Amino acid sequence: MHIHSSISALRAALHNRGRVVFVPTMGNLHAGHISLMEQARAHGDTVVASIFVNRLQFGPSEDFAQYPRTFAADCEQLAAAGVDVLFAPDEGELYPEPQEYFIEPPAIQNLLDGAFRPGHFRGVATVVAKLFNCVQPQVALFGKKDYQQLLVIRNMVRQLALPIAIVGGETVRAADGLALSSRNAYLSAAERAEAPRLYRVLTGLRDAIRGGAGDFAALEAAAVAELAAAGWRTDYVALRQQTDLAVPQDKDVPLVALAASHLGRARLIDNIEI
Ligand code: PAF
Repeated sequence: MHIHSSISALRAALHNRGRVVFVPTMGNLHAGHISLMEQARAHGDTVVASIFVNRLQFGPSEDFAQYPRTFAADCEQLAAAGVDVLFAPDEGELYPEPQEYFIEPPAIQNLLDGAFRPGHFRGVATVVAKLFNCVQPQVALFGKKDYQQLLVIRNMVRQLALPIAIVGGETVRAADGLALSSRNAYLSAAERAEAPRLYRVLTGLRDAIRGGAGDFAALEAAAVAELAAAGWRTDYVALRQQTDLAVPQDKDVPLVALAASHLGRARLIDNIEI
């Protein structure tokens, strides 16, 4: 695996490398990321990963400084997964001057996670657009665990007519159902044992809807109450339309149940398509 930290060296290395498939990350890799790397291989000739902890997508009171940085271990995992090229710029390379031009997503950026993390999706869209310009891939993969992020990026690519196919990778879970996430590292042993409740709550919503339940507000409130009783502080549990995350007007549209909740120091998010 070749590692490049400058945009010019990356572009030179990707010249004439056929169809380029890209998986952007912020590092601290787990099996969910590695699954995306392995899927990437089927979509092209050269698999490129990036590691960059993007300051723009963190709020002032969020965990930018504490975000786990595990570069050496990440490189080993990427090489073992068959990644051809790693782009690992530092801040001075990607933001050599204060970033003043942004990709401003529309109203979807203010829903759900965006309501609790103002500016987050603007920061994500801006860095992803910039990384796309650096790598110039034909295909890019993003995990479905960050469901809203995947929609924001799909919409950005469509509206800006970027010639990139966006592929969503299924969420990888531990045996007890907990979605793999870099932020699981913040959980104590007792919190780790409790954490799969979030997935159980979501599967409970799915089963209730499949069983004919139709009062979505009551289902959401019951889910929040179950989490609160077990010590969680919930930002949202929401049943939404898959296509645009709007509140469903019709029970027959494809739905997704999404949740974000705090357990100790960790803010965990998860979702399940229904
Ligand atoms: O999902 C992530 O890890 C990040 O939001 C991304 C897409 C790499 C942008 O910084």
